[in-house]
Amino acid sequence: MPFYHKLGNIPPKRHTQFRKPDGSLYYEQLFGTIGFDGMSTNSYHEQRPTQVKGIEKRYSVAPKIAQSNNIQSYRLKGFQVKPENDYLESRKTVLVNSDCAIVLAAPKLSTTNYFYKNTDADELIFVHKGTGKLRTHLGNLDFKYGDYLLIPRGIIYKMDFDTENNRLFIIESRRPIYTPKRYRNWFGQLLEHSPFCERDIRRPQELETYNASGDFLIKVKKQDDIIEMTYASHPFDVIGYDGYNYPYAFSIHDFEPITGRIHQPPPVHQTFETDAFVVCSFVPRLYDYHPQSIPAPYNHSNIDSDEVLYYVDGDFMSRNDVEAGHISLHPAGIPHGPHPGATERSIGKTKTDELAVMVDTFKPLMVTEEAMKIADNSYHKSWLKPPPAPPKEGD
Ligand SMILES: [Fe+2]
Repeated sequence: MPFYHKLGNIPPKRHTQFRKPDGSLYYEQLFGTIGFDGMSTNSYHEQRPTQVKGIEKRYSVAPKIAQSNNIQSYRLKGFQVKPENDYLESRKTVLVNSDCAIVLAAPKLSTTNYFYKNTDADELIFVHKGTGKLRTHLGNLDFKYGDYLLIPRGIIYKMDFDTENNRLFIIESRRPIYTPKRYRNWFGQLLEHSPFCERDIRRPQELETYNASGDFLIKVKKQDDIIEMTYASHPFDVIGYDGYNYPYAFSIHDFEPITGRIHQPPPVHQTFETDAFVVCSFVPRLYDYHPQSIPAPYNHSNIDSDEVLYYVDGDFMSRNDVEAGHISLHPAGIPHGPHPGATERSIGKTKTDELAVMVDTFKPLMVTEEAMKIADNSYHKSWLKPPPAPPKEGD
């Protein structure tokens, strides 16, 4: 994805004969995006990846919209999403537009009896709680608290969880997700002023290869339907691959914050981009060091983008009464800013321990029925309270 990667055994030249020990051919697959223009991977399979045995069931998982054309700020209490055994059933879309979906999930059990493939969207999974292993047909990635897992569309995968205590914040993107272009040179290498570099990006190093025949269920997401397809060969039968299109992991704890004398704008926190939204990481950092600086953000009107903040950990200085797992939605068209007292409270502070993920979408987000179940409906009036009295002398 961000750069060339090779795993397992591949022939020296693409599209040439690559034979098994018994003399028969491995089956090559070009796995690409954006027609033949986007990033691609060439993989070599034990069996044909095309052996559909049956298309059994189909059901819609399209989110039900509670509020479109929304202008109300919301706070969603993410940890109120109930844990569910099944990974796919645990995924609850809370905010959505035609480019992306914001999903909360608290899955308890690993995916055992099926594989999953999202053909609609790249998936960016932020691991808030839980450890385990993402298993894919292009290799595995161990994950833990603070990891972003980037799974390009079309990757066949399973999630193995070590315990039942898992909390995931997931962004499904119908546009490809990249690292920010301004941090890469014309060859694609991450530049010196980038807040992370190639060493921070973990690529699959472990490849599971099974040459097995039988009935293998893949739940395929296409146009907001889940379609249950049975294949005749094991989906994890890749002997080797190379290219740019593969899953990878990046820990939010490896994001190096950019700070300044005065308040730095959100783009310094940017971690991923698409042409429809950006993802930013707010990480523990030193505060602004101008003698008259105000570390809290100023009020601002992101007049043509919606702002979603997912609070992960630490003390959220600009907000009163916000806890880990909460989401704030500040919609386009109206200003938002620090809660009463937060600006004053920030003066003189030298550092923050806050950890949060922000998604700024360029199209408005719709609020779903799942979101309304965990919504604080009075949040939009929470700026009315007067600021607390200034400290008395000697306090
Ligand atoms: Fe903001």
